[in-house]
This record gives sequence, C-alpha cells and structure tokens, in this order.
Amino acid sequence: MPRVGVASGSAQDHGVHARIVSSGGARHEASALWLPRGRRYAGAMPFDFRSSPVDRAAEVSLGARGLEYRLVDTADHAAFDAWSQADNLAFHHPRPREIDLEHERRVFAERRVIGVYDSTSARPDVPVATVSSWPTGLSMPGGRSVDAWAVSSVSVAPTHRRRGIARALMEAELRDAVAAGAAVAMLTATEATIYGRFGYSPAARAATVHVDRRRARWSGPDAPGRTHLVDPASLREIAPQLVRRAVARTPGEVDRWGGLLDRVLGLVDPESAGSRAVRAVRYDDEHGEPQGFAAYRVTRNPNEPGVLEFDFLAAATDDAERALWRTLVEVDFVDEVRGLLRSVDEPLPWLLDDPRAIAVDHLGDHLWVRVLDPVAALGSRRFGAGGTLTLDVDDPLGYAHGVFELEVSGDGRAEVRKVEDAPDASAAGSSRRSRRAGGLRLGVRELGSILLGDVAPSLLARAGRVHESSAGSLEVADRLFRSARAPHLSIWF
Ligand SMILES: CC(C)(COP(=O)(O)OP(=O)(O)OC[C@H]1O[C@@H](n2cnc3c(N)ncnc32)[C@H](O)[C@@H]1OP(=O)(O)O)[C@@H](O)C(=O)NCCC(=O)NCCS
Repeated sequence: MPRVGVASGSAQDHGVHARIVSSGGARHEASALWLPRGRRYAGAMPFDFRSSPVDRAAEVSLGARGLEYRLVDTADHAAFDAWSQADNLAFHHPRPREIDLEHERRVFAERRVIGVYDSTSARPDVPVATVSSWPTGLSMPGGRSVDAWAVSSVSVAPTHRRRGIARALMEAELRDAVAAGAAVAMLTATEATIYGRFGYSPAARAATVHVDRRRARWSGPDAPGRTHLVDPASLREIAPQLVRRAVARTPGEVDRWGGLLDRVLGLVDPESAGSRAVRAVRYDDEHGEPQGFAAYRVTRNPNEPGVLEFDFLAAATDDAERALWRTLVEVDFVDEVRGLLRSVDEPLPWLLDDPRAIAVDHLGDHLWVRVLDPVAALGSRRFGAGGTLTLDVDDPLGYAHGVFELEVSGDGRAEVRKVEDAPDASAAGSSRRSRRAGGLRLGVRELGSILLGDVAPSLLARAGRVHESSAGSLEVADRLFRSARAPHLSIWF
C-alpha cells in the first residue's frame, strides 16, 4: 500500500467509530482533526491500540523461523527511522530525508507500527518486514461511518520474500482488527493479486480523468459563490472540517489524517520545488462560507502549455464541486487537466459542451474491504430500497461466516440479524441452504464488493460468484445494495 493519508467521520454520525479510537496520551492530530469543534471521542477504547501486545500466533510462527515480530515505538527515533527506511525501500521510494522523517514520525505516532527483525541480517536494526494499522471510520451509503481497521505499509524485504511473512502479518492484522471491534478491515493495494486470499475484495474504484483543455467549454450552471486562489497554508485550519463534510457525502472514504493534508498542501517541505509548485483554490458560497478546495500543480516544458494535475478536490456541496472543476478546466496556458483518483461517477461530462473532451484511464479497483462483522457492516449503511433478503456467507477464515437476514424498511434502514452460526465447512452445503431457501449465497469477498454498492449482486451472479437460492432474490439484492452515489476513495493509504 503506498502511503498517503486518509479521511471520514460523517455529518450525521461524528465519532461513530469512537469505540476503537485510542485514548492514549500521544498525539491525536489525526482523529481529533475530523471531529466537530469542541467534541472529544467519548467512548475511546480502554486500551491503546498502538501499544497493546502483538498477536501471539504471529509472534510464535515467525519466531519459529528465527524472526522477531515486534511493536515499534515511534517515539524511539532510531527504531522508527530504521523501520521507515525498510518501508520506503520496499515501496521503491528514495531514502527519506530528515524533513520527511519528522513528518513520518508525526503521522506514524497515530498508528500501530510493527516490524519483523532478522538478527542474522547485515542490518539487524532494520526490519525485514513492516506493517502499520489504525482504527478509523469508513463512510457508508447514507452518510454514517462504520468502525474499520486500516492496514498499510505491508512490505517484506526482497531477501525474505515468499516465505510466508506477509501471510503471518496479514492474518495477525485481521485478529487485531477483530480485537479492536472493527466491522471491516481495509487497504489500498499495489497489486490486485495479493489480498483476495485474506478475504479482501475491491469495494470502490477510481480513475484518472483527462480533460482536453482546448475542447473544454463550460456548459454547466454558474455557481452562486466564487472561487479564490489562496495560499495553500491558509487551508490548513479549515480543510479538515471541509474534508469531513465532503467525505460524509461519499461512501468509501476513510478518516483522513493531518499528514495527508500537509502533503497535499505542500507543507511538509515548503521550500522544495514540488511544494512551491502547489497551487490552491477555494470555493466560498454566496454567503462567503468556504465549501471546498482543490490543490494542483502545473508542469510544463519551456515555451509550451502545461499539464495541470490534481489529486485532491474536496467539495462539501455540489456547487463547490462544480465551481472547483470549472476553475481547474478553465486555467489558461494548459493543454490538459488531469485529475487523479477521481470517482467513476464524476458529473464533469454533463458540465461540458463537448463531453468527448474527457478521456478516462487507469480505471480500476482502489479501496479493498474485508468484512469481519457482517451485522455491524451491513447495519451501518442505508439501503437503496425496502425489502428482506437472506445472505448465506461463506468465509474460509470464519469471521463473517454464517447466515444473515436483512429487513430493510422503506427509508433504507436495515435490521440485520445473524440467524445461523456457520456450520463447519463440510456441512456448509445443502442441508443448511435448503432450510434457508431464498436469498443469496456468496463468499466474504463478494460481500465486501457489494457492501458499498460498487458492483451489483447480479453482475457477480453473472460471473458465477453469487448464487441465487430463490427466483427474485437477485433483483431484490440489486435494489437494496444500490448506492445513490458510487463509492469512491480519493486517496492512497
Ligand atoms: C507483497 C509482499 C508483501 C508479499 O510478501 P511475502 O512475504 O513474499 O508474501 P508471503 O510469502 O507471505 O505470501 C503469502 C501469499 O501471497 C502470495 N503473494 C505474495 N506476494 C504476491 C504478489 N506480489 N502477487 C501475488 N501473490 C503474492 C504468495 O504466493 C502466498 O500465496 P499462498 O500463501 O496463498 O500460497 C512483498 O512481495 C512486498 O513487499 N512487495 C513490495 C511492496 C508491496 O507491494 N507491498 C504490498 C503493499 S499493498
């Protein structure tokens, strides 16, 4: 997982994931950032997730291979900097400079940081494998967040690959997530073939949007407010609140941490060439209230028009979204406007005179979700229609295994019940399923992919991955799981 930062909270449900947020004494920049002014996480977890003991099974299995699996104290600079070195190396990033390390120490102080050490290696202080994780919210259709466990920094040194180290780490992360009370675990993946075996599945896509600046003539409505070009640093105060509101409008976003904004706004190393190139635009509504912002850069060759690229646009209202897009696609002396990690349902084609001015590529999986507690995960979203449905979920690792009944009222709120415990795998066949006629049979991965509405159950049925136990159930499932807004994760983490 490339490491950038993250987001959520919800307009209706701030602090819904409070139960797994640490109340430890260290910095709480990230979690606190997204709370409404004056609020504190009331139900903070009774232990500090960053320092609770490591998973015993992983400790034993790695120990049997001569490896030490241990927590890294981010306040111990020597230990953390060595960990960071391993992490950066695995992801092919340059060796971090002191200024980067200062930033990373702040960011990772919010996480549970783990290393695997080989005392026989040339640098025994540098881990041969890394992982970091933290509790956070994942925004669901309807605007609430569900308790989630974000996993990042999964790496194994080239000298130690394919010996089962990543497997030991990933299985331990699932146990840690359950212990923390998370309903789902989630990650972004460098390669799409790694995490399915642990029950993760694509749950929200993203794409790169290219706009041909010369063909882009605005035909959308004028926004009632106006945009301002601002000093990126001036957004530091208001950005968290805007992002929190933006996230609550979109399923699939995760709680952002302050570290992300500092990177996006070029504040980590303000004098670097990259940071000095960052431009920021803010949208204020007709009452002068900020409702969104975007940060972008223009790169160009001498005497040639440039390419305007952005990977961060946070809009708390539709007006803000339109106005920010408009400002970006109307910047002059630019050939192309390129939006990275954009949603698959951007309104932009409907705002330009010539929708063919837009091309989309790099469309693909982005957020991966692993359901751990189907009752909590399903119960936290609003559904697209009323109805009843039974989901017979197969989970080889057991966490989400069982039969679940959804009763969804007309307003999309669901009562979710586990009606049968999972029989063992050998009995997971006909007897149970025939008793529970009706509904769908599916695996935990398919459940993760339909959870936020990214893919229709009927599409997975066409792919032979979801099975209808009684006629009509797929149609009901399609209506229920539909999300008014396509899920979208706008960052890497
Ligand atoms: C991906 C990575 C962490 C795997 O570590 P590892 O210790 O070699 O993995 P393991 O030996 O535990 O392998 C576990 C399983 O995953 C499979 N696997 C591992 N890496 C894989 C890859 N890149 N693609 C597909 N499958 C992979 C293994 O074949 C094994 O399968 P099995 O147990 O079902 O037979 C390591 O290659 C790495 O650090 N890559 C660079 C950084 C990176 O991309 N990290 C992932 C961040 S999202």
